[in-house]
Amino acid sequence: MTQYAVQAPAFVKHPRLVQWVADMAALCKPDQIYWCDGSQEEYDRLCEELVAAGSFRKLNPAKRPNSYLAWTDPSDVARVEDRTYICSAKKEDAGPTNNWMDPAEMRATLNPLFDGCMKGRTMYVVPFSMGPLGSPIAHIGVELSDSAYVAVNMKHMTRMGKAVYDVLGTDGEFVPCMHTVGAPLQPGQQDVAWPCNPDVKYIVHYPETREIWSYGSGYGGNALLGKKCFALRIASTMGRDQGWLAEHMLILGVTNPQGKKYHVAAAFPSACGKTNFAMLIPPAGMPGWGVTTIGDDIAWIKPDSEGNLRAINPEAGYFGVAPGTNMQTNPNCMLSLNNDVIFTNVALTDDGDVWWEGLSDEAPAHLIDWQGKDWTPADGKAGRKAAHPNSRFTVSATNNPALDSEWDNPAGVKIDAFIFGGRRSNTVPLITEARNWVDGVYMAATMGSETTAAAFGAQGVVRRDPFAMLPFAGYNMSDYFQHWLNLGAKLEAAGAKLPRIYKTNWFRKDANGKFIWPGFGENTRVLKWIIDRIEGEAQGVEHASGISPRYQDIRWNGLDFGPELFEQVTSINVDEWAAELKLHDELFSTLAHNLPQELVAAKETLANRLGL
Ligand code: OXD
Ligand code: MN
Repeated sequence: MTQYAVQAPAFVKHPRLVQWVADMAALCKPDQIYWCDGSQEEYDRLCEELVAAGSFRKLNPAKRPNSYLAWTDPSDVARVEDRTYICSAKKEDAGPTNNWMDPAEMRATLNPLFDGCMKGRTMYVVPFSMGPLGSPIAHIGVELSDSAYVAVNMKHMTRMGKAVYDVLGTDGEFVPCMHTVGAPLQPGQQDVAWPCNPDVKYIVHYPETREIWSYGSGYGGNALLGKKCFALRIASTMGRDQGWLAEHMLILGVTNPQGKKYHVAAAFPSACGKTNFAMLIPPAGMPGWGVTTIGDDIAWIKPDSEGNLRAINPEAGYFGVAPGTNMQTNPNCMLSLNNDVIFTNVALTDDGDVWWEGLSDEAPAHLIDWQGKDWTPADGKAGRKAAHPNSRFTVSATNNPALDSEWDNPAGVKIDAFIFGGRRSNTVPLITEARNWVDGVYMAATMGSETTAAAFGAQGVVRRDPFAMLPFAGYNMSDYFQHWLNLGAKLEAAGAKLPRIYKTNWFRKDANGKFIWPGFGENTRVLKWIIDRIEGEAQGVEHASGISPRYQDIRWNGLDFGPELFEQVTSINVDEWAAELKLHDELFSTLAHNLPQELVAAKETLANRLGL
């Protein structure tokens, strides 16, 4: 290997890290190495460089101060699940829901690809903390990337910069994260606005050595390696080994009119409105209630010395889906997007601002779409979207007007309830409380959600998505279920009061295919029932899969939603459940290896209760 004279800045005091950077530089052969310090000056400079390179457009500062727009290559618009691998030593440790390759074979595949992959480019050294700096629940990563887009996005999405080296000291642990767009430049070769490798992509995790190697994509979860790769896939294996949980969950605070605060962690599959729920505004009919955001996508949850589960948001920003976001669906999110935002793959207006489907009822008369082409509402009518359905905003959490005062607390917040929710037009009631931890784990394990075009191409197909972790569990899904069961049993045996577990479904449809439940801020009514249950103040009715509220158990002030509609969102149809249980059977046969017997028993009890 060529030796790189790596001159680390004085703020890096970690010889092993410096040696790793030198080794990786010798492999990837960048033209230069740049050590990010995370300063605003650095961010502004890198953004200006991206503008000069044609990768960013600066938006009209009068409309959207300090904000930028990037358009990707059309082949690089989403996470690539079929190119994502868990390379554990044993295939059964990756399990049937993950792509697997033998680690040695994968290294032999990746090594030639990474050899010289950064030629003509800069290698950015991006140090980041997942979670509040120095928190006992947080962990550190260092991403080496040849994408300045990654470096500036990581500043919003993580605690990124110099201070991370102070936490790391001379010998601290970090997860090494290798990333390249896989598009080396020959001498004199002109770069493109969005370099990536349209043909070869690999998103690879080595759980035993806790490494991430990502090749060929510059987009989102494929490239911002702190997010899905570290905070979910690698962290879930760390949690398994160390007795904690890394979950695809938002975290919110709910405060009642008496000022008592509760914390809820909620798992929803992609494209189920997680960001909307994390930022919801209680309706006028519920004065005195407040909802605040701790996180919108990921939660790391560890038991404290009393057995309480305490959660942090490992991220520091939001990488949210733009289409459908507006002042009705998510006012707090819209206010977060006023300034200092990076938009990716939304449309550009003639006055230098952004637009996406659903932002306003009427589209502007003219736009430049996400592929740089002229667009008019007539194109929209013909089915051509101005913004890509998976277009995104990247923004720091501190822009959120509803940010929880505890969001950066190193001790995390105590979780009072878990919610699991999918998108189901039938079968699953609005809200169900699990009878106990095991039933709750069963509910979460058998969760399903109808796919949306935005996420997966096909529409309306129920995809089983256990714990909303299908693409994110870094190890065998059945072992992951067992880990949840073990943790609950251990805490309960030690006398801890476990959070209650709930399942929600905001998405039931009527005979005309229209959503019945108004959702958004009105979901506060469901949160109130949950809290009343925790306090022992609310009744409900028991049915086969758990306990749901009766009409009179919900606060309806200010909402015209009669008992008939309520029946439509809460009814249990035995035929639908019989079909549902067949799908649970299918899932369980796929996951048969190491499937916990407690879950098989829970399924049998459910079938008996349904009279099946
Ligand atoms: C996301 C996802 O982008 O879950 O958060 O796909
Ligand atoms: Mn997500």
